[in-house]
Amino acid sequence: MSDLTGKIAVVTGASRGIGEASARTLDSSGAQVVLTGRTVSDLERVASDLENNPVVIESDLAPAQAGSILAEQVLESVGGVDILVNNAGIPMRRTPDDLTEDDFDLVFSINVRSLLMLTLGLGPSMASRGGGSVINI
Ligand SMILES: NC(=O)c1ccc[n+]([C@@H]2O[C@H](COP(=O)([O-])OP(=O)(O)OC[C@H]3O[C@@H](n4cnc5c(N)ncnc54)[C@H](OP(=O)(O)O)[C@@H]3O)[C@@H](O)[C@H]2O)c1
Repeated sequence: MSDLTGKIAVVTGASRGIGEASARTLDSSGAQVVLTGRTVSDLERVASDLENNPVVIESDLAPAQAGSILAEQVLESVGGVDILVNNAGIPMRRTPDDLTEDDFDLVFSINVRSLLMLTLGLGPSMASRGGGSVINI
């Protein structure tokens, strides 16, 4: 990865899996990383290994307004953002007979609604910094 010194990155679902690996890679490339997710202890475990002043923000992306609220928290915490990795998400494996409206709402709220609102909330900050990158996992 290219040198990201001075860049600020947000990784949702940074507590494990692909999000953890993304956070570690961005940090090792020089970026300051904001790690978000529901399990603070796991976020702090990852952050404790990072070198560029990582920030942990507890965030459940399922409730209404969660994406917008997280965007505000990120901007309050680090001022602006260059890179957003929309990684947090859940699978939902159901047969047509089992799928309920609640299942659909839960998947949509995390995997689509909050992703969109977080991206819209951070987009102006990226634009004001000359552009940015949004990676949707
Ligand atoms: N691995 C695959 O084969 C595969 C295939 C297709 C798509 N994906 C997608 O790729 C992404 C990462 O996959 P993975 O395998 O690394 O997933 P994972 O190990 O299950 O990790 C998911 C991450 O999302 C966070 N998360 C889950 N629900 C959340 C919620 N309500 N609010 C905020 N954060 C939440 C989790 O943290 P907390 O539990 O601490 O909140 C965790 O950090 C996911 O979006 C997944 O759906 C993965």
